[in-house]
Amino acid sequence: MKKEAYQFNYEVYNSVEELSAPDAWLLNEAREVTAAAYAPYSNFNVGAVAKLSNGEIVAGTNQENASYPAGLCAERVLLSSAATLYPHVAIDTMAISYNNINGESNHPISPCGICRQSLVEYEERTKHPIRLILSGMGGKVFIIQTAGLLLPLSFGSADLK
Ligand code: THU
Repeated sequence: MKKEAYQFNYEVYNSVEELSAPDAWLLNEAREVTAAAYAPYSNFNVGAVAKLSNGEIVAGTNQENASYPAGLCAERVLLSSAATLYPHVAIDTMAISYNNINGESNHPISPCGICRQSLVEYEERTKHPIRLILSGMGGKVFIIQTAGLLLPLSFGSADLK
């Protein structure tokens, strides 16, 4: 028996002001688009905005449903739109923010497990890392160089061969 370890590095910024201008712009867009979320059940409005490698910008917000499991996260709404509007185009960077109507929105959240799986598949199909910028409506910002870092030992297409 031997033990393996997994660790990854990510960047921590104290606020949006410390980011480069393009990253700050993308994060502010994600913060703004939270207003387009449909989250009457959780009151947790999530916004995601991505810059594609062709320069286009695509957004997504969470879309809930009275039948709770039918709801969709902002990240997967974005991925579906991007793949439909710009097939085969990679995503360079995705900013994710949220506005918690019943609480605080000043610490970064990171994508849920299902979204991590979808992000990793998108990276795989476009053969390109998706850089993540994570933050609430204010406060610290995390930057992760590739979404795959959030899903070690992931299951993917190669496992189906
Ligand atoms: N949600 C997202 O849209 N993205 C995340 O990364 C975490 C959670 C949504 C799902 C649900 O509509 C609400 O936030 C509360 O979980």
